[in-house]
Amino acid sequence: MKRYFYFVIASIISIVAVQCATDTKKETGTDTQKATSAAASDTSVKKAKTDTVMVFIGMNSKGIGRFKNVQVAHPLDQAMAADGYKIFQTKCIACHKLSSEMLVGPGWAGVTIRRTPEWIMNWITNTKVMLDKDLAAQTDLVVCLIRMPKQELNDAQARDVLEFMRKNDGEK
Ligand code: HEC
Repeated sequence: MKRYFYFVIASIISIVAVQCATDTKKETGTDTQKATSAAASDTSVKKAKTDTVMVFIGMNSKGIGRFKNVQVAHPLDQAMAADGYKIFQTKCIACHKLSSEMLVGPGWAGVTIRRTPEWIMNWITNTKVMLDKDLAAQTDLVVCLIRMPKQELNDAQARDVLEFMRKNDGEK
């Protein structure tokens, strides 16, 4: 019953993002054409079109997985965030930007605001199940068209990445 309630609320306030990597490529194409034509292209419009749009579905959701209660501390743990950055550089950078811009997946700016710590941890460690069952993850899939591959990260590494995401979002 409670789940149903959240679902209804989420549906009411939901805003579904509408573009992803494929669109970004199309944009580049049209922009090149535009540039060769007389009309000067409006860079601000272009930027808005390729940015990650906040997805409100499941903002309060903890997702599906082992993580039911993830404690985050203030101030954040700089050493963990540094380790998380290294993981980002080796395993995530191919598909995610740190800005709000889409690459293959959504840009990470604001991810700690639109997702709970539990959702992020469950997503990183239980990607396949979340993609099959979690409403918010499925919405991302509609936006991005490709499924994020399962990441071989242990719990501590996933937690490091979360700490880095908090830092990326300006948490001190
Ligand atoms: C092959 C591309 C790819 C790689 C590599 C990848 N991701 Fe993703 N990621 C995606 C896609 C695509 C999505 C959108 C959700 C979906 O449909 O799978 C996503 C979504 C996410 C989200 C949810 C973002 C949001 O705003 O809802 C998080 C968090 C995330 N990824 C973390 C990671 C982490 C951490 C790594 C590295 C350990 C990683 N990803 C590596 C493709 C990738």
